[in-house]
Amino acid sequence: MRRAFLLLAHRVPPRGEFSLNDLAGLGGRMDEVARFVSTAFTLSNDLRRDTEVTVLFSAEPPPRARRIDLAGDRLRYLNPDERSTAALLKNALARTADLPRELESSPGLRVAPCDPAGVLREFLQRPGAAWLTESGGPLAAWEAPPERATFVLSDPFEPTPAEQALLEASGVPRLSVGPRSLRASQVADAVHRELDLRAPSARAPPDA
Ligand SMILES: C[S@@+](CC[C@H](N)C(=O)[O-])C[C@H]1O[C@@H](n2cnc3c(N)ncnc32)[C@H](O)[C@@H]1O
Repeated sequence: MRRAFLLLAHRVPPRGEFSLNDLAGLGGRMDEVARFVSTAFTLSNDLRRDTEVTVLFSAEPPPRARRIDLAGDRLRYLNPDERSTAALLKNALARTADLPRELESSPGLRVAPCDPAGVLREFLQRPGAAWLTESGGPLAAWEAPPERATFVLSDPFEPTPAEQALLEASGVPRLSVGPRSLRASQVADAVHRELDLRAPSARAPPDA
């Protein structure tokens, strides 16, 4: 089953104006965003082609807000380490800081100006959308859609009141991967593991 994630990134400067040496500080927790992207896509020596990630950079309002869409089936130049992933995203943001239109900054990575509330609304309207939150019902009991599941989650900061209102009004299921509050990258791992186990190819062959 295909998986799409929308990560709400609240404090990363959307023009890419931060140093790779200060991802957690002036980078607005770009370290966590990069770790999430890396974990969402990378396998041991391969990439998850069935996965898409959108990062919503909403630290500044339109026209400065940005979205980056990464498509696993076309993605290139994504290495497993956090710093080079942060560099890939930062370069995309910096290259388009003054560009009023979408750009494919590298294969499988598109960056575009956006209205963050509109993007969140669009994701929440997708069939098979769900909100990943510590207070949700168990993911393991969720009946996933046949084609593509879409998950919305937040970076280390809580959703803003406006986002919270959209999430609550949407009526999408709230899902939890466990009782502890995890880092977004750990949540991605848990979601993939659950969906991987449901795939027919993951089932053990019957006893001979
Ligand atoms: C680092 S957590 C946010 C931290 C938390 N709001 C706090 O300050 O204690 C990042 C995001 O991962 C998701 N998340 C964390 N733990 C989760 C869990 N057990 N089940 C589902 N989603 C989870 C939520 O979307 C959360 O906003």
